[in-house]
Amino acid sequence: MKAGLMLGVNPASTREQNDFYATDSFAVVKMAEKLKEIGASNKLWECACGKGHLSKPLIELGYDVFSTDLVDRGYGEIEDFLTSTRKWGGDIITNPPFKLAVEFVEKSMEILQNGQKAIFLLKIQFLETELRAKLFKRQGLKEVIVNSSRVCCAMNGEFDLYFKKREGKYIGGTQCYAWFVFEKGYTGKPVLDFV
Ligand SMILES: C[S@@+](CC[C@H](N)C(=O)[O-])C[C@H]1O[C@@H](n2cnc3c(N)ncnc32)[C@H](O)[C@@H]1O
Repeated sequence: MKAGLMLGVNPASTREQNDFYATDSFAVVKMAEKLKEIGASNKLWECACGKGHLSKPLIELGYDVFSTDLVDRGYGEIEDFLTSTRKWGGDIITNPPFKLAVEFVEKSMEILQNGQKAIFLLKIQFLETELRAKLFKRQGLKEVIVNSSRVCCAMNGEFDLYFKKREGKYIGGTQCYAWFVFEKGYTGKPVLDFV
């Protein structure tokens, strides 16, 4: 018997090895206005791009997007973000692997220059824990932009297996996601906003 079945867990909910949960591109379309408002650069690095669910709509919206992922999923270049030696002159945006989200924040801040941003889509629970409270102060959490309408992220990008689609957006997700905006050098308190 598979471990997932023994534990009474739906095998479909077993975590994908490299945490590939594609984001409904609708989330970017909703976020687009805020990106302007927060002064995001037109030059963006999607550093855990998966199959391009964030990159593609951003490009359609006119952003200059460079895309990489640890795994070849048929989109972008192959690169381990956490060991990257790349110099980057724009902002960073991604929905990172949740289990490595802290490492992705730390690495982004190593790469970015003062005033540049790392914009991460993460479960709202990322706000919790003492470790992360310290991270938020140390690495300049500037804004938390909560999705008022639920965003769906699908394992392996198989949206139609897990969700229904209504009016251009997948529905039926169980998690609240927010955009965490870190700005290198920011020392103020984080602002709470909604999209
Ligand atoms: C939650 S998925 C999100 C994919 C995409 N950003 C999206 O929103 O649809 C996280 C992605 O991070 C990639 N990943 C995991 N570890 C990585 C690393 N060290 N460097 C770059 N990408 C990584 C996985 O392969 C996976 O595609």
